Amino acid sequence: MPHKIKPAHVLISKSRLKRKIQKLGRQISRDYKGKKLVLIGILKGAFVFMADLLREISIPVEIDFLQVVSYGASKKSSGVIKVKKDIDLPITGKHVLLVEDIVDYGYTLDYLLDFMEKKKAKSVKVCALLDKPSRRKVNVPIAYKGFEVPDKFIVGFGLDFAEKLRNMPEVSNLE
Ligand code: IMP
Ligand code: MG
Repeated sequence: MPHKIKPAHVLISKSRLKRKIQKLGRQISRDYKGKKLVLIGILKGAFVFMADLLREISIPVEIDFLQVVSYGASKKSSGVIKVKKDIDLPITGKHVLLVEDIVDYGYTLDYLLDFMEKKKAKSVKVCALLDKPSRRKVNVPIAYKGFEVPDKFIVGFGLDFAEKLRNMPEVSNLE
């Protein structure tokens, strides 16, 4: 049965995404010059952003990924989070930048900041492409931020609706 996909409205175009990611890459390269930097992408949503961001970074950098699952009646509103796939690289003494697609309630990053600090990283900061501040439940410091988005369901550029639409090249909202 074909999956019925709702029409989407483009919020952030390809060229705006490109320019912003170039800017973030330059900023990160400047701030972490001479430091041991590890980008850690949060699967699956962040993989598109991570791939573009990585190529805008001009200093030595390592990468890894982790994946979390959230439990509870409603997936999106649950504050109960568990790491499903941990990182493989040792990060002791390194500077970690958690790369996320979107910060919504903030539960995921709140949990992961704590999780990373326990691994004795030298520093742990967040780089998020999108921020939906109107829905925040826990305060999460976002050191590098792409765009703020309205309280709508966002898809494309790695973000999914029921595992579909990650391949859309722009950031859109479902109507
Ligand atoms: P938080 O713990 O509520 O901040 O959850 C953030 C995670 O929920 C993100 O990593 C996304 O995977 C997912 N998410 C939140 N809002 C959206 C959205 O509008 N579209 C797609 N995924 C979303
Ligand atoms: Mg995610």
